[in-house]
Amino acid sequence: MAIQFMRMSIQLNGINCFYGAQQALFDIQLTCPEGETLVLLGPSGAGKSSLLRVLNLLEMPRSGTLDIAGHHFDFSQKPGDSAIRELRQNVGMVFQQYNLWPHLTVKQNLIEAPCRVLGLDKDRAHARADKLLERLRLTPHADRFPLQLSGGQQQRVAIARALMMEPAVLLFDEPTAALDPEITAQIVSIIHELAQTHITQVIVTHEVEVARKTASRVVYMENGYIVEQGDASRFTQPQTEAFANYLSH
Ligand SMILES: Nc1ncnc2c1ncn2[C@@H]1O[C@H](COP(=O)(O)OP(=O)(O)OP(=O)(O)O)[C@@H](O)[C@H]1O
Ligand SMILES: [Mg+2]
Repeated sequence: MAIQFMRMSIQLNGINCFYGAQQALFDIQLTCPEGETLVLLGPSGAGKSSLLRVLNLLEMPRSGTLDIAGHHFDFSQKPGDSAIRELRQNVGMVFQQYNLWPHLTVKQNLIEAPCRVLGLDKDRAHARADKLLERLRLTPHADRFPLQLSGGQQQRVAIARALMMEPAVLLFDEPTAALDPEITAQIVSIIHELAQTHITQVIVTHEVEVARKTASRVVYMENGYIVEQGDASRFTQPQTEAFANYLSH
């Protein structure tokens, strides 16, 4: 394994990101090999969501470079709209508020984007949706509307919808926030299942237990800086006092 060439799925160099005059990310250097589950941890306001959103350019850095799923961006130039669209087909996002379309059924929520954006034909979209609904144990809810589902079920629909695009990288912002322990365990097991495929996952969480259970790599942030990053052994052997402190709370 050590000799084998590890393909990088994600590489960030010198990323600086601002909201107006306020800098939210400082000189971010990050690498993540393909197929890993990377967890971003840190106190509120550390910049976790900002960093996650940079990965599919929902936030536009002022400088630096981003390589992700075979796409390359150098922020000394403004990326084109078509490059951003292509990036988002390969890098999916599961939002904390699920962002499901309330007027569409579960099944329609799944097939809408692939048909419109990828031009997938209806039959193939339905077949793909049926498989994912089965995999995420949502088949009985296919014809319901989002508001007729529990929070955990809506979260699973949001994951299924993101997977419809067959992304190389899947981003999650607080996927277990506001979910009870049993539903959190279900989401953790879905993340484990996805980790068995070739997909790369990046997960923002403030729940250390969820992080420990899912992460193969971890990034710890404070005040817009990456303080520590490494493999999952960092949970038992943190290399900075800051991360050790965070873990002990
Ligand atoms: N849309 C925005 N406009 C202005 N400032 C923002 C915006 N979003 C985030 N910030 C600021 O950027 C910094 C990083 O915020 P971010 O949301 O990335 O933190 P976080 O680590 O995800 O925090 P939390 O755990 O509370 O979600 C914070 O100081 C925040 O106030
Ligand atoms: Mg956040």
